[in-house]
Formats: sequence, C-alpha cells, structure tokens
Amino acid sequence: MIRTISAAFLTLFVFELSDVIFAAEPAGLPPVVHPMDNPPTDEKIALGKQLFFDGRLSADNKVACATCHDPAKGFSNGEQFATGVEGKKGGRNSPTVINAALQQFQFWDGRAKSLEEQALGPIQNPIEMNLPLDAVVAKLNGIEGYKSQFQKVFGTDVTSDGIAKAIATYERTVLSGDAPYDRFKAGDASALSEPAQRGMKIFFNKGRCSVCHDGRNFTDNGFHNIGIPGSDEGRAAISKSTGDKGAFKTPTLREIARSAPYMHDGSLKTLEEVVAHYVKGGSPNPQLDEEIFPLKLSAEEAADLVTFLKEGLSSPSYPAHTAPQLP
Ligand code: HEC
Ligand code: HEC
Repeated sequence: MIRTISAAFLTLFVFELSDVIFAAEPAGLPPVVHPMDNPPTDEKIALGKQLFFDGRLSADNKVACATCHDPAKGFSNGEQFATGVEGKKGGRNSPTVINAALQQFQFWDGRAKSLEEQALGPIQNPIEMNLPLDAVVAKLNGIEGYKSQFQKVFGTDVTSDGIAKAIATYERTVLSGDAPYDRFKAGDASALSEPAQRGMKIFFNKGRCSVCHDGRNFTDNGFHNIGIPGSDEGRAAISKSTGDKGAFKTPTLREIARSAPYMHDGSLKTLEEVVAHYVKGGSPNPQLDEEIFPLKLSAEEAADLVTFLKEGLSSPSYPAHTAPQLP
C-alpha cells in the first residue's frame, strides 16, 4: 500500500520536473505538454515553422517537411506513398502531423517517442530528404537569417539539437480541436446534422470504433492489426513480438476528411472504403485484433458513420498554415 502511494507520488513529481504545460490549444483537446528542456517561445515557433517549410533541409533543395505534410492536404501529401528527393518513393503513407503533439508515439510503428526525436529522422533518410546532419547544419549556418535566429533562440549557431527542438515546438502548434463534435458535446445541439448525430452513435456503440479511436484525440495510443493485407511487419519490427505483426499505431481521426488516402499503406482511397473495410471485418490473419470482426451495419448506417467522420471531426479552426517567408 505504502509502496503504491509513493510510486504514484514519484510519477507526479517526475512529470512536473520534466514537462511544461502550455495551455493555448483549441477547445476539446487535452493540454499540450512541452518538455522542460524545450519550452516554447514565439521566436522558436516561428523558426521551427520556417524550417518545416524549407526545402533547403534536403539534398536537392526541393523536399521540405511540408512537401509530405502539406497543410492544404491535411498535413499529409494526398498520395498513397510519400515521395522524397529525386522522386524516390517509400512504402508508407504520410501520416498527418495534426495533433501529433498529443501522441505518445510517433511513426506508424511508434519507433520514436518524442517529436524532437522524430524530427531529425526524415532529414537524413535517403528516400526522404537525404542530407547528413553535419551537411544540413553547415548549410543553414551559411544562411545569415537562420544563424541570427538560432543565436536569439538558443544562444548558439545552428545545431542539429536546435533544429529538432525548433521544429518540434512548431509542430506542437499544429492542432485541431473545437470541431462540430466538440461543440455538440459542449451543449450546442445544432452543431451536428441529424445523419452526423446518428453516425456519432454508431461510432461509439454499434460500430465499436471508439474501442481504439478513444478519447479527445480519437486514439488509444496503442497498436492493432486491423486486417490490412500486406507484408509490412509494423510494430513487430520494434517490439520483436510476433503478436504485433501487422499492428500499426491507432491514428487520430481529427480532420480525417482532409488526409486521404488512408492506412499505413495508403491502400484505402476514401472514408467510404474505410468503413466498408470495418464492416467486412478486415482480412483474416493470425494477428487480427480481437476487436475487428464483421459489423452488422446497414448501408444507411455506414453512410451516417462516414458523415460523422467528415462533418463531425472537421474543425472551423483547422490550422490552415501557409508557407512563411524564408531567410
Ligand atoms: C518524403 C516525405 C516525407 C518528408 C520529406 C517528411 N516526412 Fe514526416 N513522415 C513521412 C512518412 C511516410 C511518415 C511515416 C513513416 C513511418 O511510419 O515509418 C512520416 C511520419 C512523420 C511523423 C509522425 C506522425 C505520426 O502520427 O506518427 C511526424 C511528426 C513527421 N513525419 C514530421 C516530419 C518532419 C518534422 C519532417 C521534416 C524534418 C518530415 N516529417 C519530413 C513522410 C515524410
Ligand atoms: C482494434 C482497434 C480499432 C478499431 C476497433 C477501429 N480502428 Fe480505425 N484504425 C485502427 C488502426 C490501428 C488504424 C491504422 C491501421 C493501419 O494503417 O494498418 C486505423 C485506421 C483508421 C482510419 C485511417 C486513418 C488514417 O489516417 O489513415 C480511419 C478513418 C479509421 N481507422 C476509422 C475507424 C472507424 C470508422 C472505426 C469503426 C467502424 C474504426 N476505425 C475502428 C484501429 C482501430
């Protein structure tokens, strides 16, 4: 008993020491937590935004983070697979960056824990931006406007640590909440149309969607095999557990209407196809999640569910960021 209490106390204590809570997010979202060693400032956010939109962080000067995470395409890229330098294609769909700040894990297989840890991956990835870190640091140090901003924000010249911190801080401002769903829950009965209200009930009951797309960011931060056929090992490559074969991170569903195509392999083109996949119960395989099985939904119920996803989770406060002026 005493042990449990002190463990809980310790957890709270560690949480307070290592994290800063910054409450400026849209209604309906939990607080965004910034790491203690990377507190947000307006200058840092502005610097991170420039880096996010700057193609000079890539080998051919053409591929920016925003190429594959384009605000006009739901912070994804509208294609089945990502296309990096020299038109190289990867094997996974670009996930949205919206509300990534609220996720416990980054990447479809959860291999990065923080946004800081994630940010330097794509720059060095040979099929994404393909630039070694010392090369990107040297390149940016040659741009006076970046050098002076890094001095102001971090008190140093450009460093890879500063690049990661600035980008992650900007990403923590890419948030979507305050959707018709949130307004309906807050008491505005007119926020959702009748079909969307029926669809909402299906989402949380008969459709069993909320078993995994849970909470205010519509994810349980877990990994599941939902029966998308293919040879991608998913989470198993990280956890080394056979039970995780074909399991991927449950993605947020906020702004989902903007980021087609869907799933880790971009194999489903529309939300209608996604719902049809769940109605069918996915493709059978030994690791198929226990919560995935054929659903008894009528055609009208399936259509209402799609209406809820489109109408209910698209926010008027969508972060429609445009490219900033670059130094
Ligand atoms: C060539 C396209 C491409 C570029 C350029 C790119 N990304 Fe990505 N991004 C992806 C793909 C594909 C994934 C998923 C990869 C995986 O899961 O293995 C991803 C995953 C992510 C994630 C995790 C999101 C989640 O929900 O798991 C974040 C955050 C992210 N990228 C941010 C960035 C940042 C920051 C940059 C620039 C430094 C960047 N990306 C550059 C394609 C790209
Ligand atoms: C067992 C957990 C689970 C249940 C139940 C579940 N999902 Fe999912 N959902 C996931 C996972 C995991 C993924 C990613 C799978 C992949 O890429 O292979 C996903 C992906 C999606 C996507 C695509 C997101 C994107 O960004 O590509 C949509 C849309 C979606 N689910 C909607 C639903 C709806 C609607 C229901 C209810 C009918 C539902 N989900 C039930 C776990 C679940």
